[in-house]
Amino acid sequence: MNIKFLDLGLQPLANSYQKSHKKKTKKKEKLYKLSVSFNTKTKLVSLVNRIPDKKMFNNTYPYKSSMSKTMIDSFKELSKKIKKRFKPNKFLEIGSNDGALIKNFANNKAICVEPCSNLAKITKKNGYFTYNEYWNLSLAKKIKSAFDKIDIIYSANTLTHINDLDEVFRSISYLLDKNGVLIVEDPSFLECIKKVSYDQFYNEHIYLFSALSVKNIINRFNLELFDIEKLPTHGGSLRYYIKHKVNKKIKIKKSVSHQLSREIRFGLRNYATYKKFALSVTKSKKNLIKIFTDLKIKNKKIIGYGATAKATTVLNYCNIDSQMIDYFVDITPDKINRYMPGKNIKILKYNRKLLDYIDYIYLGAWNFKKEIFKKEKNFIKNGGKFITHVPYPKII
Ligand code: TMP
Repeated sequence: MNIKFLDLGLQPLANSYQKSHKKKTKKKEKLYKLSVSFNTKTKLVSLVNRIPDKKMFNNTYPYKSSMSKTMIDSFKELSKKIKKRFKPNKFLEIGSNDGALIKNFANNKAICVEPCSNLAKITKKNGYFTYNEYWNLSLAKKIKSAFDKIDIIYSANTLTHINDLDEVFRSISYLLDKNGVLIVEDPSFLECIKKVSYDQFYNEHIYLFSALSVKNIINRFNLELFDIEKLPTHGGSLRYYIKHKVNKKIKIKKSVSHQLSREIRFGLRNYATYKKFALSVTKSKKNLIKIFTDLKIKNKKIIGYGATAKATTVLNYCNIDSQMIDYFVDITPDKINRYMPGKNIKILKYNRKLLDYIDYIYLGAWNFKKEIFKKEKNFIKNGGKFITHVPYPKII
């Protein structure tokens, strides 16, 4: 049974950066209900309303993994680790984006799956065999007949974007060699609760995984967890290592039971935990609005840093618009000179000079706080302050 526990109101599509100021053109942006539920049996957390994937992942998808040094470094490290630990012959990535990870593998050893054609074009151009398609069973069959043995399937921040999770894991179980390994990386729901980072929820993030829910889902497809790593990426992620149950050569590490116990101890099996989280979210909203209003009363100039999809959730849930935030800065070419979905705040191309004469910066990309603070040493030295809502609304 699915029980709804969180209501984030009406929201635009999180990555639909608008070409024009909607209030000026009088064109209405489509809004969708965003609420979150919890499955009492599988413990899976998911959005109540689903948007057709073609509306979200198409030829104009703006997000590029290689826009952050943190992500590039993390992928470099991971590829070294995979090569050393598993020595893959054929590596397949589901949701290869612009190739930030795959570029660490030789052309003849890696296969990309990417439904967004603007991104698939990049890996194709770089010589990687790329399927510009959605992940499903018919694609898995096509790949199997073309390549035979796939020994590693990797997917970061992608499987949770696909509506039919059963088909996702059925197709993986079908394609993955019987001695193969599936590696899945996604934000951790436990971290999301701990950090009250409700902005992990937006239309693309249909699911938010926990070790508990992953274990339950993959069990149906004769797959099992054998290792779990904690990662700092995306505000706290988990990297799940998964194998076929029939493969007894790989031993199950203690990290699996440790993570499961951590989640059980925190209460991820109990509805009361979810209700408590929803109350913390309401409190977070109230306190963030107070910070913005108090600063605006004092005529402080505030901008946003990192026009993230997560920020779309925060701005629309808390009703923070261009009266509060003058503009956002971002380095992603496809976001520049566009407007934040639903709130008409302009996104300008990042330039250090844009931070001059600014009193406060709202951290849209709070998950890259370390990287951004390092980059903006001078802003901080000159008395500039940051606003964040994670783990609770505060000025830093
Ligand atoms: P994400 O949190 O969804 O990964 O998005 C991060 C966004 O923040 C992305 O649009 C790039 C942007 N960004 C900057 O503009 N400057 C930076 O220094 C970093 C780290 C990210």
